[in-house]
Amino acid sequence: MKTFIKNKNTISEKDNLLILTKNSNNLSILNLDIREKNYIDSEFKKEVDVIKINQYARIIIIINPKKNTDKNLYFEGVRCLAFKVFSEIKTLKTVIVQNLNNEVIETEAFVEGLALSNYDFDQFKTEKSKNKLETIFVYNHSDIKRLAELEKLVEAVKLTRDLVNTPFSHLKAIDLAQSAKKAGIDAGFTTSIFTKKKIQSLKMGGLLAVNQGSIDEPTFSILEWKPKNAKNKKPIILVGKGIVYDTGGLSLKPTANSMDIMKVDMAGAGTVIGAMHAIANNKLDQHVIGLIPATDNRPSGNAYAPGDVVTMFDKTTVEVLNTDAEGRMILADALSYAKKYKPELVIDLATLTGSAANTIGHFGIVSMQQKAINEHNNLAKSGHITHERLAEMPFWKDYDNLIKSDVADIKNLGGKFGGAITAGKFLAYFTDYPWIHLDIAGPAYVSTEYQYRSKGATGMGVRLLYDFIKNRK
Ligand code: BES
Ligand code: ZN
Ligand code: ZN
Repeated sequence: MKTFIKNKNTISEKDNLLILTKNSNNLSILNLDIREKNYIDSEFKKEVDVIKINQYARIIIIINPKKNTDKNLYFEGVRCLAFKVFSEIKTLKTVIVQNLNNEVIETEAFVEGLALSNYDFDQFKTEKSKNKLETIFVYNHSDIKRLAELEKLVEAVKLTRDLVNTPFSHLKAIDLAQSAKKAGIDAGFTTSIFTKKKIQSLKMGGLLAVNQGSIDEPTFSILEWKPKNAKNKKPIILVGKGIVYDTGGLSLKPTANSMDIMKVDMAGAGTVIGAMHAIANNKLDQHVIGLIPATDNRPSGNAYAPGDVVTMFDKTTVEVLNTDAEGRMILADALSYAKKYKPELVIDLATLTGSAANTIGHFGIVSMQQKAINEHNNLAKSGHITHERLAEMPFWKDYDNLIKSDVADIKNLGGKFGGAITAGKFLAYFTDYPWIHLDIAGPAYVSTEYQYRSKGATGMGVRLLYDFIKNRK
């Protein structure tokens, strides 16, 4: 459901209007009759934040966001208010947003919230969504370029949601790789896809071990956006977990509320594809590479088994104690592969652990970092701006011991405690560069509607990465 976002310098008497204002005295431009005026005044006094007037030829909605001294929380409130307004206008084709407060950022937050709300995953429904909103016009906006940028950013978030919502039956590893390629053709980045032969010749043991039980072949995709005016000499690398379905493998998951949502397990990869789409489509001046190892994880006669020892891409040996801890196996190979680029920074995104989801729920992203304190600070700042917030975990040396193995260099299972952290420690073993780990198991997918983030896949992480990379010096 693409939403166009455009500037418009005229308003006719038939245009549906969404008006942001902090007082009801400046509405004379609307030619309201006295009853409408009185109604709005009385609602304003009651501090009602969304006031709807149904006129014969159009709908007018007056929006009065609640104050908040924290500006990030204020703009998040505005995006959420836009979601509330969306439920009133979804059958309209177009609306005009007018801001009588003359606040540009406020308008943009509102438009962003509205456009992000305009989403339904109805690909497999016979009866399609009744939502009709095609274009959001913004009256007399002073930053028209930003509207075009927002339009593309929202489109990228929806691409991520579509990918994550698509079930395993329709998205195997090769389909995920081809989706990355298609996104690249659309937005202007390149994609090269390694198939099983190449992955075998590279000896990516982690990815191959997880893939052993599958009837489908793994892929390893490399996405690259390298503009001529790139400010960074060394690339930023985004790594995304691409488990297109996680049954747990021989350490089989139970079905209810667990395996049944495991199409989500490529959300890290989906977020990288969405972020790359937004970055390239908006031509950001940073050299960015995406790495996506992909396979499903399932049991079979040939599946990797608890007790196995696997030699990884970088020759580290890993004792597999739980085949359901498969994300770290495939990510480890991608993180080792990233070394060859001598990256400035690597960020990985993964629906890695139930522990992360249990710790903070869907309200934010569990994060860890190594050699990247400043980078993490900046990312956390972007987290507040986009309300895709980071919750940093301790990453003390003490945890290193918890992944030591009796028979191999390390094991893929930590102890009883700190599951998200020991998973992070496992990944850290394969890095030597500034690195941030984002465990998105909580927010990637929600079972009930989460404001403008929709229900099902949220796309959380795309706006975060985009804002962070856009603001790099
Ligand atoms: N894909 C899961 C993690 C997950 C859980 C994602 C909930 C989204 C929502 C991951 O591969 C997994 O199974 N992790 C195990 C690790 C454990 C066996 C060490 C977990 O968290 O239980
Ligand atoms: Zn698993
Ligand atoms: Zn998994």
